[in-house]
Amino acid sequence: MKSPRTHFECQSCGHQIPKWMGRCPECGAWNSFVETRPPAPVPDDVRHSLSAEGTGPRLYSEITEGVSARLTTGFAEFDRVLGGGIVPGSLVLLGGEPGIGKSTLLLQAAAHFARSTGPVLYCSGEESEHQIKSRGERLGVGEAPLYLLAETCLERILEAIDRVAPALVIIDSVQTMFSLKLSSAPGSIGQVREAATQMLFFAKGRNIPTVLVGHVTKDGSLAGPKALEHVVDTVLYFEGERHQLHRIVRAVKNRFGAVSELGVFEMTGAGLRAVANPSALFLAERPAGAPGSVVLCTVEGTRPILVEVQALVSATSYGNARRMASGLDQQRLSLLLAVLEKRVGLSLVAEDVFVNVAGGILVDEPAADLGVVAAVASSLRNRAVDPTTAMFGEVGLAGEVRGITHAGLRVREAAQMGFTRCVLPAGNCAGLEAPATCERVGVSTVSEALEALLP
Ligand code: TYD
Ligand code: MG
Repeated sequence: MKSPRTHFECQSCGHQIPKWMGRCPECGAWNSFVETRPPAPVPDDVRHSLSAEGTGPRLYSEITEGVSARLTTGFAEFDRVLGGGIVPGSLVLLGGEPGIGKSTLLLQAAAHFARSTGPVLYCSGEESEHQIKSRGERLGVGEAPLYLLAETCLERILEAIDRVAPALVIIDSVQTMFSLKLSSAPGSIGQVREAATQMLFFAKGRNIPTVLVGHVTKDGSLAGPKALEHVVDTVLYFEGERHQLHRIVRAVKNRFGAVSELGVFEMTGAGLRAVANPSALFLAERPAGAPGSVVLCTVEGTRPILVEVQALVSATSYGNARRMASGLDQQRLSLLLAVLEKRVGLSLVAEDVFVNVAGGILVDEPAADLGVVAAVASSLRNRAVDPTTAMFGEVGLAGEVRGITHAGLRVREAAQMGFTRCVLPAGNCAGLEAPATCERVGVSTVSEALEALLP
């Protein structure tokens, strides 16, 4: 009998070719092709509908909205990232580097959820039940209808879900799962996609919310999370340095809530603890009154956070001047330095410029521009910006300061944190509803802003 034809599949992007190649023509990855057998024909009893009520087209007006009441995980900070709780039947992907705290967060959320809402099935392909239990003891899980299953076979997990009928399923991690239907190894892109798709049909068909854990490496090259992002409803990413104690969970896609919503946690001896006031955390070690240090108001999702931007400008000792940014975009820094040179007349050609957002948080919104230019100018002139002044605003190429969104939210947060003055785009000043304790200085150009900040 002729053996079934095999093909080669790129482990990085999923591209398929009939003959092996050293480099993927789609994504350019090297040595990423693995021989794969085509999947066996799908038996008829497998569901392919995402609806719980059967197949076939239905009239828009006849479809009820469905129960969109969110289930709370009992962990307010985690609920906030999800957009106010987990939506029944939704599939959530939690990605992050190994060892950052994904299993810890989910075990804590599972315990809370089990206590408040209903039974939870926690399937782990990485740790035994005993290991999870000993971690749970540290986290204080206690008495709760929490079922543990150390299993990597997808079909057996689905059976267990049938038996236990949980209100929430957690799969830790999707890279360790394999389906009997495919012959490729666990962790290959085919298996990862199969696991996610089967869980999708299961979650939607039975209205059971499901959380998948996905590992990503620093360069994001591992098969998995990237390829799954379009399959799942919500994608959350863990950010943070392993050497620092705080962790940030960010929603990068959410079909049911605001994107780039943010949760801030602190890793303690007894698991993750929500940080109620992130601004206080990020400003805790600020050297108030030091040249090059300014405070900027950023908004992540719907949450305002004050962060400290530090700049160090020092004479280049040899060769080309260096420009380094950490916590913000390098290209954006180059652009802002060019604006400072050309529009404000600061001379930076012979200066090394280092800019850092303190605390390891990543700020990628244009409203951070004004903080960056102010920090650089303050360090260059070696004069401190008044420590009770906060700022925000987008800088344009003509040296203008442009209005941005959520201005009121930012000023309120600054006032709440005890800042008495806010430098902001003039375009945002009119009709702004904000506390009177915080004086507002509207500026329309970078020169004006520097005048106000470094008189
Ligand atoms: P873990 O959740 O296992 O990471 P992941 O599932 O993302 O791979 O987190 C492991 C790290 O968390 C480990 O370095 C130890 C630390 N940790 C604490 O600091 N306190 C705790 O209570 C727990 C359970 C873990
Ligand atoms: Mg883990």
